[in-house]
Amino acid sequence: TVMHGVFGDPIKHSKSPIMHNRAFRELGLNAAYAAFHILPGQLKDAVAGIRALQFRGVNVTIPHKLEVMDYLDEIDEDARAIGAVNTIVNDGGKLTGYNTDGIGYVRSLKEEAGFSAAGKKVLLLGAGGAARGVAYALAKEGASAVYIANRTVSKATELADSISAYAPAYGMSFDETIDIRNDVELVVNNTSVGMHPNVDEVPIDTSWFHDRLTVSDLVYNPLVTRLLREAEAKGAKVHGGLGMFLYQGAYAFEYWTGREAPVAAMREAVLEAFR
Ligand code: ATR
Repeated sequence: TVMHGVFGDPIKHSKSPIMHNRAFRELGLNAAYAAFHILPGQLKDAVAGIRALQFRGVNVTIPHKLEVMDYLDEIDEDARAIGAVNTIVNDGGKLTGYNTDGIGYVRSLKEEAGFSAAGKKVLLLGAGGAARGVAYALAKEGASAVYIANRTVSKATELADSISAYAPAYGMSFDETIDIRNDVELVVNNTSVGMHPNVDEVPIDTSWFHDRLTVSDLVYNPLVTRLLREAEAKGAKVHGGLGMFLYQGAYAFEYWTGREAPVAAMREAVLEAFR
């Protein structure tokens, strides 16, 4: 059995094992995926364990995505630019780190909402860990402007600077979004606002939303946030956070197995786990 897993803290609620085991089964692969609770201070040993136990692949989640880069043999260029690794591939003891969050997001946006950022202006809300991969991937896809609004404006400006080699990018406060909001075709919530249990909160005023806009929320608990409900009421196209989770997993699966991920089956398994 070819072994895979996910390292995180906390890890109990991870849906990755259900998703990947379903994918292995769907393709008839002799492989398995388990969740591992790796405490702070034990990550280095855990990574050594990938080699010792000859795991083929590992996902890395909060809080280990940055530190894990210190223990790998090679870091893919995109992961290096984003500054975080969420996927490790083990080639006969040589560990390479990738980041599939950003490309997973872009692929889900295309597949599920039919939206391609090339040549378009986009507004990102939030500048934390999740925002980094999304901002980088949208910039690389060729967005004509990436506006990043954050409560802490300095973090928005830093993130904008870090992707400015790939697309024109601007950090700003939430108030300043008034000046650019009529130019954008996509709004993405990368903040934790609206996440369970604070389901009544929205990260931004939605009164200006309209039917030519796509609104995307990385929050997937609940599956449909208040932001998305209000966007839908304004006729906007909506895109939920489950897609990013699904497609970051699909890319990881494809790196490990060399096979096309059975996304429909993976989605079904994850949705079942949420019920
Ligand atoms: P993640 O890894 O999920 O992105 P994070 O790195 O802690 O988590 O980032 C959380 C994001 O949500 C940040 O952009 C944060 O804004 P600050 O940088 O100003 O802290 C944003 N956020 C969290 N709670 C918020 C709130 N109540 N209002 C506005 N923004 C909030």
